[in-house]
Amino acid sequence: MPNPLSNHKIALGVTGSIACYKAVDLASKLTQAGALVDVIMTHEACQFLTPLTFQSITHRPVVTDVFDPQSELSIDHVAIAERADVIIVAPATANTIAKIAHGFADDALTTTILATQAPLIVAPAMDAHMYDNATTQRNVSMLKDIGCVVAGPASGRLASGLIGKGRLLETPDLLGCLRQTLGRNGDLDGRKIVVSAGGTQEPIDPVRVIANHSSGKMGYALAEAARDRGASVSIVSAPTALPNPFGIKVISVQTALHMQAALHAECADADALIMAAAVADWRPSSAAEQKVKKGDSDTWEINLVKNPDIIAGISYESLIKVGFAAESEDLLQNAESKMLRKSLHLIAANDITAEGSGFGVDTNRVILLDRNGGKEELPLMSKYDVGSAILDRVSGLM
Ligand code: CTP
Repeated sequence: MPNPLSNHKIALGVTGSIACYKAVDLASKLTQAGALVDVIMTHEACQFLTPLTFQSITHRPVVTDVFDPQSELSIDHVAIAERADVIIVAPATANTIAKIAHGFADDALTTTILATQAPLIVAPAMDAHMYDNATTQRNVSMLKDIGCVVAGPASGRLASGLIGKGRLLETPDLLGCLRQTLGRNGDLDGRKIVVSAGGTQEPIDPVRVIANHSSGKMGYALAEAARDRGASVSIVSAPTALPNPFGIKVISVQTALHMQAALHAECADADALIMAAAVADWRPSSAAEQKVKKGDSDTWEINLVKNPDIIAGISYESLIKVGFAAESEDLLQNAESKMLRKSLHLIAANDITAEGSGFGVDTNRVILLDRNGGKEELPLMSKYDVGSAILDRVSGLM
């Protein structure tokens, strides 16, 4: 499956904030993803960067002036407005936000924004006091009221030296926002999908846990694929090293019991639960309050008790349940019996010993089994694409 951004026509507005150097990375990532990127720079942005910077990356002309005879907009001033699937202004200064909010069209960017019917994303970047200013806040609210997606800003160190709210979102978040915005009328629009991810950790004492090799990559990729098709998505996540994906609610848990409680609550109003987490089957019967010292003993016995089977115990009317079966032998037989035992609609069976599947990697190879005896064998593909294939089936079941 192609990258969700490929072949999309994306207009990138760049305005006069020092954060515009980050827009170069965004333009680069979009171009690499196969998007057609039209950059429109304000005159102030040209104080920081040259049009050639973006032109070299996007391999397309960069617009700075509607009246420049070399510019496509001098012939058709709404050409980009009509062509774009989405417009993103990153970074967006307080001044440009004010102009968009009040319908100004005094440069190439604001003219394009006023003339477009495509969704608009604005990613503010400015000094914290400018962002907090009541006028800016009112302008930002006005943008939200007219259906514009306001992405960020993030908090942190600002160019002024202040620590506060006003940082441009990082590229992965801006890409996530674009994917979510482009997919918002997708087949999962209006649906709530809950995904569990990562490997639970069961404490032995304050410094030790029983853990497993799950990286969380399968669940996170699946959650992003669902977001990109319009779903509202929650991840109930055991500890992972992965960043929180844009536009997805992440509920962090540690143990199987925490995960069970969070999933019960989260699934009450959900359409589907996709259980990609590797749940510890056993936990120490009690976790020591203090660090266990090794002392003179050569062995250490830990008494384990069984954790509940989380997905088997969740049943809400009309909740679609999808599980994973990570197996090292008797793949199909084990997967099928798990599907029946846990009353799942679908199970993704994967052989963790096969090359390219299993823990930590970005790819997976699964066989999808359903309750009606259906069996679909998928080739080795990215975890995002495996997620998309599972969601095709979930969408069909809904
Ligand atoms: N699962 C769960 N609760 C558990 C264990 C597993 O909800 N306590 C879910 C997993 O997230 C997965 C599916 O059940 O979607 C199958 O998990 P797996 O670990 O393969 O199977 P187990 O039920 O643990 O069975 P076994 O130990 O026999 O492999």
